[in-house]
Amino acid sequence: MSAMPRDPRDVVAAKRDGRPLPPDELETFVLGYARGEVPDYLAAAFLMAAFIRGLDAEETQALTRAMIRSGRTLPLDGVPGPKVDKHSTGGVADGVTLVFAPLAAALGLRVAKLSGRGLGHTGGTLDKLESIPGLRTDLGPEELERQVAEVGCAVAAQSPDLVPADGALYALRDATATVPSIPLIAASVMSKKLAVGSDLILLDVKAGSGAFMKTVDDAVALARACMDLAAGFGRRARAAVTDMSQPLGRAVGNALDVAEAVELLSGRSGGRLLELVMAFATEALVRLEGSSPEDARSRAERALAEGAALERFRRMVAAQGGDPRVADDPWAVLPRAPVVLPIEAEASGTLAAVEAEEIGRASVDLGAGRRRKGDPVHPAVGIVFHPKVGDRVERGEPVGEVHARDEDAARAAARRVLGALRLSDGPVAPPPLVHGWFG
Ligand code: URA
Repeated sequence: MSAMPRDPRDVVAAKRDGRPLPPDELETFVLGYARGEVPDYLAAAFLMAAFIRGLDAEETQALTRAMIRSGRTLPLDGVPGPKVDKHSTGGVADGVTLVFAPLAAALGLRVAKLSGRGLGHTGGTLDKLESIPGLRTDLGPEELERQVAEVGCAVAAQSPDLVPADGALYALRDATATVPSIPLIAASVMSKKLAVGSDLILLDVKAGSGAFMKTVDDAVALARACMDLAAGFGRRARAAVTDMSQPLGRAVGNALDVAEAVELLSGRSGGRLLELVMAFATEALVRLEGSSPEDARSRAERALAEGAALERFRRMVAAQGGDPRVADDPWAVLPRAPVVLPIEAEASGTLAAVEAEEIGRASVDLGAGRRRKGDPVHPAVGIVFHPKVGDRVERGEPVGEVHARDEDAARAAARRVLGALRLSDGPVAPPPLVHGWFG
């Protein structure tokens, strides 16, 4: 790639005016930004022009390629066996990775998962895992590869030299109101997935009140844009558009989510979160090993029932320096909040809708997430919420709990959870868990 071919303002002007943008010029512009040669104000102007005008498939691919080329990649050459990666676009009570990674490892697959921290109202897998005393997520590339080869799975933080242009552009998008653009999100998500050498990329594109994409149509458009990118780079990928019109699991916090994951990995409970994990595990076995869906599903059920998935979780935690007893008795190890307040339903009816984003925000305000970058996270706090859309609730019945640092915070969060519920007199059909698969 050459140096700047022409004035970077020409790239901004071309996008502003809706003129075709040659892929190599877009790539040079983005690489120039990553090197600090294109200033923030020009990149911000470009992002706004791209947000308003959109990017066509070729431009989205050029942006993605530039982001990948801005840093190092993680080919995973030293990891034998079929490698699967899984990524969620972000949701509430979305603990899929905590269960999926060890389950996939127990099924003979390899998972090198680079995860993120909480973003806005959504939770982050790294924050959840770090609630386990001693556990580290800052694994170097060699350490990550070694652990995946030995244990089958690792969940680690993305190193700053992997796709650095995305880190810089994402921060700029956050600061310039240009985050919710389908091509920009697709390039951001897929650049990070394509930089890692997995054999199959599974995307969980969330749709609904707790997701960044509020409608199924927008989520489908995002899923298709991501799958087009995977195809353009010659990589195997599948995307599920899944329900985020209510919290997926029951725990909206950090330690609370780890405890829920252990319960699911032990085969002691089920529900929509486990069902989604099973859907991804089945898809991975079907695509990577040619299993039939029925056989894949029964293998996954066996790995849970026989304790193989929980054993992988225990080994993963131990390999990352965490206390492995968390797999046997989570609350002997995990931090507990000083105040636990039951949330009691204020009326009777059928749960018709949940403002999942509001529940996520209430949990963030308890301290489970960050209002500003760099804020500390309080691992023990959060919300547990039991009913799902279509369930009957009775006035006075406990529908969940708030785990808080003090009584006032607990009461405020309980009020917000109750305010986020819509009850109906008649029956309500539960929404589908998976709206469709793409790719
Ligand atoms: N997650 C990402 O990684 N990037 C986005 O742009 C949005 C969500």
